[in-house]
Amino acid sequence: METPVQIVIFGASGDLTARKLVPALAGLARKQEPPGGFVLVGVARRHLSDGEFRQDLRAAQPPEGLDDFDGFAPRIHYVSGDVRSPEDLRRLGARLDALPGGAAAGRLFYCSLKPDLFEPAVSGLAQAGMLEQSTPDSPWRRVVVEKPFGRDLASARALNQLLQGCLREEQVYRIDHYLGKETVQNLFAFRFNNTIFEPVWNRRHVELVQITVAESGGVESGRAAYYDASGAMSDVLQNHMLQILALVAMEPPSSLDPEEVRGQKVSALKGLRFRSSPDQSVRARYQAGEAEGKRVPGYLEEGVPADSTTETFVAIRAEIENWRWSGVPFLLRHGKRLKHRFTEVKVQFRVPPIQLADHVAGEDFLALPDGTVCTLRPNVLTLSIQPREALSLSFSVKSPGGGMVMVPAHLDFDYRDRFGESTTPAYERLLLDAILGDPTLFLRADEVEAAWRFTDAVRASWAGPEAPPLLEYAPGGWGPPEADALFHGCEGGWSRG
Ligand SMILES: NC(=O)c1ccc[n+]([C@@H]2O[C@H](COP(=O)([O-])OP(=O)(O)OC[C@H]3O[C@@H](n4cnc5c(N)ncnc54)[C@H](OP(=O)(O)O)[C@@H]3O)[C@@H](O)[C@H]2O)c1
Repeated sequence: METPVQIVIFGASGDLTARKLVPALAGLARKQEPPGGFVLVGVARRHLSDGEFRQDLRAAQPPEGLDDFDGFAPRIHYVSGDVRSPEDLRRLGARLDALPGGAAAGRLFYCSLKPDLFEPAVSGLAQAGMLEQSTPDSPWRRVVVEKPFGRDLASARALNQLLQGCLREEQVYRIDHYLGKETVQNLFAFRFNNTIFEPVWNRRHVELVQITVAESGGVESGRAAYYDASGAMSDVLQNHMLQILALVAMEPPSSLDPEEVRGQKVSALKGLRFRSSPDQSVRARYQAGEAEGKRVPGYLEEGVPADSTTETFVAIRAEIENWRWSGVPFLLRHGKRLKHRFTEVKVQFRVPPIQLADHVAGEDFLALPDGTVCTLRPNVLTLSIQPREALSLSFSVKSPGGGMVMVPAHLDFDYRDRFGESTTPAYERLLLDAILGDPTLFLRADEVEAAWRFTDAVRASWAGPEAPPLLEYAPGGWGPPEADALFHGCEGGWSRG
């Protein structure tokens, strides 16, 4: 018989545990139980019995999740403790030894804690001898670290050094839940399992790539202090968006070996460049106004300091300096309180070298204010990540009738049409991978550092003498119009989702 796995969540009375981690584990317990099964031990400082902890978690589940939860509940346990207390960690160790699997169980320690507690939690576990995995036959010990992983390159490096002092790299699972999304994994799968796109996936054929993560909501209640310390760039662009970019831009790995895959992503991120100039980025924050039919507060009314300079919108024009991508702009945009929520990648291909069509004004060409006439780009591959999970390829077809009049057309694929409503929730997939010891969809130390190196360069330009101003934008639109200027000449504009 296989030994059960023990999953310990630090920060077990928090929002992430109730909303994401417990539903994911309950879903796994029903659908894809790993060999031997697993138990969950929640840890937080407040005093709760196992029964009270289960009740609190149950109250936080949506009605459709209750069946899974009730099936899983008997395996949920609770230990009251402070991760900074050696005595509390010792008690936790004794409790784990007494649970199914005991000391022979593989153990996954999930740090669902405020970032300043990652370090005391991991060093406390190491000092208590709870992370030792001395021989290949010893029961495994792994640590999952939530985002944000550092605040900048220096702090991410310091955290990496701390982790590497306590654990081997293969024991560390730095999570970015975007990588658990089917549509994000499909960026990789689609590119490297089809032959028709890869030959044109380069600077000769691609004119530009744009990536958008648009949110319609503002700062979530209770998160103002956290958000104000990070802003749009550190909260979303540095992690989710650069992970998407890495999957779009990476070279094909020679196998699915985790180090092969992650190594290629790191190479792409290391090539990413920001030209430090005020016309390469736009930062802004939302004002009060009307959005989704109701009055919404401005960012400065969300409970942040009155002198806050944190951005809720960021747009950047970047490049990747390597043979595949040199000269191709990568335009990245993320903002809160935008018109609607969507995450999407658009790969825009170059126009044919000569035009053999009779153009129709407003349909397939566009006049710029300076009089330049641009042909619209007929070939765009759109990879929709959320809420739509879809692929769409646009092209031109001849309009019936005389002459050679071209009109736009699309080939569309929607995940829901093909596979139904339910794709596996991101945390479910990632927790299973962490239990099974597959780190492919988790970030390596050098990967996080490469991403911070890029965003630090942007932030440095915002702190310098030529910093772009912090603009304001009305809620319910597409952010400040100045972001449109990141597109040059006939390159087009930002997607509206
Ligand atoms: N919430 C999300 O949607 C989300 C999304 C992505 C990433 N994350 C990340 O996930 C982590 C957790 O977020 P969250 O929203 O769940 O935070 P949260 O709601 O503030 O929960 C934090 C938890 O930590 C516990 N805690 C605080 N100090 C402790 C200590 N010294 N020892 C043991 N437990 C302690 C708290 O309970 P006690 O006060 O009882 O100890 C609470 O259960 C953060 O790093 C966050 O950035 C969250």
